Amino acid sequence: MSSRLVVLVSGSGTNLQALLDAAADDAFGAAVVAVGADRDGIEGLARAERAAVPTFVVRVGDHATRAAWDAALAARIAEYKPDLVVSAGFMKILGPSVLDAWPVVNTHPALLPAFPGAHAVRDALAYGVRVTGCTVHLVDAGVDTGPVIAQEAVAVRDEDDEGTLHERIKTVERRLLVEVVGRLAREGWHAHGRRVRFGRVAQPGDTTQEEHP
Ligand code: GRF
Repeated sequence: MSSRLVVLVSGSGTNLQALLDAAADDAFGAAVVAVGADRDGIEGLARAERAAVPTFVVRVGDHATRAAWDAALAARIAEYKPDLVVSAGFMKILGPSVLDAWPVVNTHPALLPAFPGAHAVRDALAYGVRVTGCTVHLVDAGVDTGPVIAQEAVAVRDEDDEGTLHERIKTVERRLLVEVVGRLAREGWHAHGRRVRFGRVAQPGDTTQEEHP
């Protein structure tokens, strides 16, 4: 049986597209059952519509408090009964209504814990690192602080600006996200402290995907 994915986006949605393309093959083990966004008129939503995947938009500005927004978002996600929520370029911090209900995986364009936050590529360039990359991790209540699932390095070139470096990172990021989501769906996962492993066999004391962190 295929895992049900709800994917959250805020922008161009190329990571979403990679998941949609991968999920076209039944052997992937997961299907994108809905795409949610925090804003209208983005290419990410158009990609979902072209793939005939249902979409929803829950704007922070339409809610009196951040907690009310989080609850409204959780209610929309719940309609699609996901096994896993994927934050793929979703530029909002998720709250407990979402995080306590489903495991959430995020992709971040830096090697965490270096350069968390919304300007990871710019910050890495400004720091002058020679190697950066991307991280796929479980989401917790902090900003890009959840347990790491997978990472891959990307070299910084002398001639890089934020745009060229981010594009090279995104090429790696899309492949890594697809690989991780597919394995989570097919193999399951468990965590011991911050260390996440694929596979359903857990040792005593491990967190399993059923009681996700
Ligand atoms: C990705 O690099 C993601 O890590 C970052 O924003 C980018 C989203 O790209 N938060 P896209 O919308 O999937 O093309």
